[in-house]
Amino acid sequence: MNRPVTTTAPEAASARETAAVTAPEAASTRETAAAQAGPAGGRASAAESSVFLAACRRQSVPYTPIWVMRQAGRYLPEYRQLRARVDFQELTRRPDLAAEVTLQPLRRFELDAAILFSDIMTPVQGMGVELEFAPGPVVRNPIRTDAQIEALPELVPERDVPFVMESIRLIRPNIPRGAPLIGFAGGPFTLLCYLVCGRPSKEFGPARSFLYAQPEAATRLLDKLADAMAAYLRAQAAAGAQALMLFESWAGLLAPRQFEHFALPAVRRTMAALRSTGVPLIYYVNQGSALMQSVSDLDVDVIGVDWRSPLRQVREILGAGKAIQGNLDPAALFAPGEELKRHARAVLESAGPAPGHIFNLGHGIWPETSPDAVARLVDYVHEASSGGGRS
Ligand code: CP3
Repeated sequence: MNRPVTTTAPEAASARETAAVTAPEAASTRETAAAQAGPAGGRASAAESSVFLAACRRQSVPYTPIWVMRQAGRYLPEYRQLRARVDFQELTRRPDLAAEVTLQPLRRFELDAAILFSDIMTPVQGMGVELEFAPGPVVRNPIRTDAQIEALPELVPERDVPFVMESIRLIRPNIPRGAPLIGFAGGPFTLLCYLVCGRPSKEFGPARSFLYAQPEAATRLLDKLADAMAAYLRAQAAAGAQALMLFESWAGLLAPRQFEHFALPAVRRTMAALRSTGVPLIYYVNQGSALMQSVSDLDVDVIGVDWRSPLRQVREILGAGKAIQGNLDPAALFAPGEELKRHARAVLESAGPAPGHIFNLGHGIWPETSPDAVARLVDYVHEASSGGGRS
């Protein structure tokens, strides 16, 4: 493979050491630094050390960075092996195991970012909501009344889900090639879908009708979830997460009017509370083709895009002020070798030469995917994007 990663690797490694040494200090002085330096200040060194972080900030990069949504998981034999012995929840609650699973895909593939191994429902469990994974989240008592919403406590991350921050502290110094760590949470509306409906569903009927039948209760629940996710993500950044992502997996259930009335104000509330962390903010809008206009003035660095929207069109709607992340169809990983390259190239071409593209799938990788296909995709994206003067 002929791409400049080897030339930049020593620099990245030394930058990583500096970053690791300064991380606790950076975390505690984050707000002061952000306040003194303004929104664009105090971050140059972090951005320079990683192609992924630079792309989030729409800076020129030597090649297009790539990571894969749900990259730690069941398509990897080493994950399945561990999972055969250990329950999923225990994997997320034991920092040593969560760290191991987070790092598994980074050891196999030259990925440009790691993502914490956890689940969007983990902080909600920390708020006292009883649920099990079967394998998707099933809530024991779905939340539908004002009293239940009022009873939801505030989330205090270091008290209620301390193992998440411990995992981050354990992962950070051990990530290969100095790749940055992405922390994440569920979008408030996506969490509402699971909490109100009580189980995974195609339509989330009870959740959608809840918005119409009890709009004030819905808003109250969304506000509570928005504040909880803000606290949760701030704690992740303080522990060392270098970018923060909100997964709005069920955004596409809503018409733009409903999205703008319910989901978007909650996301604004969360994101506004995260700006002072100084790390890039990513909002993934699944099935968001009709919602790109709605998110165009959201104050985030990156919009994550599913495979249905051509990136060229998304760029036109979002304008030059946002980076984009995506958007190969997860099914494309089943195409034969040369065909897979053709599909990956189409994504790169649609994103175009402007800075600010992070390659990813349009949604999570399927458990049936061959790890070899992922290896080929990662190498191809690096190769194809470094050759053509895409920086
Ligand atoms: O590598 C990574 O991306 C980190 C791990 C991760 C998991 N869940 C692990 C997991 C992430 C980022 C999530 C987020 C998540 N969880 C989302 C948002 C992303 C998306 O796919 O839209 C959603 C909607 C959930 C809810 C959830 N948790 C579902 C629907 C399921 C069931 C099946 C599945 O994998 O999609 C889970 C359980 C879950 N979360 C598993 C894993 C690896 C499977 C558990 C097992 O090993 O049996």
